[in-house]
Amino acid sequence: MALYLITGIGGFIGSSLARELLRRGEQVRGIDNFSTGRRENLAQILGQIDCREIDILDLEAVKSACAGVDFVLHQAAIPSVPKSVLDPIASNRANVDGTVNVLVAARDAKVKRVVYAASSSAYGDTPTLPKHEGMTPDPISPYAVAKLASERYMISFYRCYGLETVALRYFNIFGPRQDPSSPYSGVLAKFITLMLKGKQPTMFGDGEQSRDFTYIDNAVEANLLACKAPAVQVAGKVFNVATGRRVTLNETFKLLQELTSYSGTATYGEERGGDIKHSMADISLAEKHLGYKPKVNFEDGLRRTVEWYRSET
Ligand code: UD1
Repeated sequence: MALYLITGIGGFIGSSLARELLRRGEQVRGIDNFSTGRRENLAQILGQIDCREIDILDLEAVKSACAGVDFVLHQAAIPSVPKSVLDPIASNRANVDGTVNVLVAARDAKVKRVVYAASSSAYGDTPTLPKHEGMTPDPISPYAVAKLASERYMISFYRCYGLETVALRYFNIFGPRQDPSSPYSGVLAKFITLMLKGKQPTMFGDGEQSRDFTYIDNAVEANLLACKAPAVQVAGKVFNVATGRRVTLNETFKLLQELTSYSGTATYGEERGGDIKHSMADISLAEKHLGYKPKVNFEDGLRRTVEWYRSET
């Protein structure tokens, strides 16, 4: 049994990691400042985890949370492109300074490995598809810059201090418990909850933008594989975590009409600043070195997600 520290444990990805680790009989400690993370996400497992209200900007507190830890899964962030455009200082503080604190604490506590929630936004709007890890990054939003900077810090801590780190570039992770309530929420959580209530969703732009929407179970699996893969294959490296397919928002809307029984239309508004048009991953590196294979495809993931939100309302 190993001890895992999840930063951002109250978030949708952090809490999903916690549930799967517990299912596998591992020990879980988690930290969150509960700014965007939610205690309800942890309601069923609170008795089984060591959950601490800690901000990753508080280095001393993060150091104490790292004591005795084997693996750190660093998910804590302000995870929004538009929010970072409005407030780049806050984005940088949480997404870069916070990461450096986690790395310093992990290094000093002699943690075995740190796995980081990096972002496909690092690729920017380059026309090449699929995106592969060998491409030169070209981040657009402050959020994307911060996520890329943190990714480089991961690599730096491996090179300078020998701390094993793995960066996973998430491609639009979605699934149960993703918060739909903020204007910055992920598009699928927003669309599903609106459409289940018979309300009209808004596409920013013409709806022809596409994403490699990745169901949460795939991201969880990738994190756990990244902890266990041989260091020579993964330490100091970056991997796409995605499905290798893309769908447009318009196509997704049609699927959701069936799944939610929403008979209305979508409305179309202004394109969102800092957005990228198309995103799709080449996942061959993760397949080769992590042994990663997407377990749940987009349609099944969407179905499960709609069912979950339906059961919650
Ligand atoms: C998402 C993640 C980000 C992650 C990145 C890459 C969220 C909130 N953001 O960014 O953390 O790093 O993927 O994995 O999950 N849209 C609409 N209507 C809406 C909301 C959004 O049309 O009501 C559009 C957006 O303009 C965008 C697309 O849907 O074109 C996806 O937006 P969003 O879900 O916010 O994700 P990303 O910006 O791709």
